[in-house]
Amino acid sequence: MLKRIAVLTSGGDCSGMNAAVRAVVRGALVSGIEVVGIQKGYQGVMEKLFIPLDTRSVSGTVQRGGTFLQSARCKEMRTEEGLQRACDNLKQLRIDGLVVIGGDGSLAGAHAIHQKGVPVIGIPASIDNDIPFTSPSLGVDTALNNIVRAVDNLKDTASSHNRAFIVEIMGRNCGYLTVVATIATGAEYSLIPEEPFDLEEICTDLRKRFHEGRNNSIIMVAEGAGRAEDIAARIKDRIGFETRVIVLGHYQRGGSPSAFDRLLGARFGRAAVDGLVQGRSGTMVGLDGASIVCTKLEKVMSTGIRPINPMFHYLSNSLLI
Ligand code: F6P
Repeated sequence: MLKRIAVLTSGGDCSGMNAAVRAVVRGALVSGIEVVGIQKGYQGVMEKLFIPLDTRSVSGTVQRGGTFLQSARCKEMRTEEGLQRACDNLKQLRIDGLVVIGGDGSLAGAHAIHQKGVPVIGIPASIDNDIPFTSPSLGVDTALNNIVRAVDNLKDTASSHNRAFIVEIMGRNCGYLTVVATIATGAEYSLIPEEPFDLEEICTDLRKRFHEGRNNSIIMVAEGAGRAEDIAARIKDRIGFETRVIVLGHYQRGGSPSAFDRLLGARFGRAAVDGLVQGRSGTMVGLDGASIVCTKLEKVMSTGIRPINPMFHYLSNSLLI
């Protein structure tokens, strides 16, 4: 019988985290379970930044981006002493279950805590969409919409000046957002860490497009594939178009969550509470088609980065004529 659970958001924030926390809090309260919010992710577990959460604590949060619990990256969690301290603090607080909302590093922390005997359920939340066994992760849809809005604006100004824009998109190890945003905005190229690219070939094609009278070109670069500034320096005098660089950076991560992310956050949050009530631990909730599924964190960790569906590469290439 669960008496008290805790919830935290960890790693890079994303839109929809508040919706997930709200669903955890209200889902638990209706089941007669107390909820403690942990501020600043695992750092807050170390420093005992614990706050009681009631139904009013999450009022008015669903439409807000970021995370009202705040987030942090916590190096101490990667050490045996840090992990032990985190588990001791949770046990001292008499926590019967923990919900961790975050990306791959945060889920690895959740797995380690589970192995120490504290029941944990993970919620995949990262704009990178690189976590396996969920499609998508929380926050991806809002980030994609942010990028599409920004690139639409860039195309207006680019076409007014016959310019090429090199647009840097977040994604340290994964080019998912870059590829799907290329399709959704009608950009010309996506350069991603998963696929080799030939700048020589790209320059030749862009020059051809310039001479055919196209009035703009957009080249999307995932940060893991190279810096937009460097790519621009290598191509700028060889493509006809005058070039400009824009790094969308953290703009992509903020903003009011899309309806999709609010619903996904609500579903993930509720499923996490249900999982704890049913006695599950060491699992991650995820979306598979229209259904919420649970996968062992051990399996999530050993699978590595979620690959981009090849259909998106095919589609992106076939639209470039
Ligand atoms: O949320 C994931 C991510 O957006 C990566 O794509 C990016 O490299 C990283 O976070 C940067 O985050 P921060 O500046 O918060 O460390």
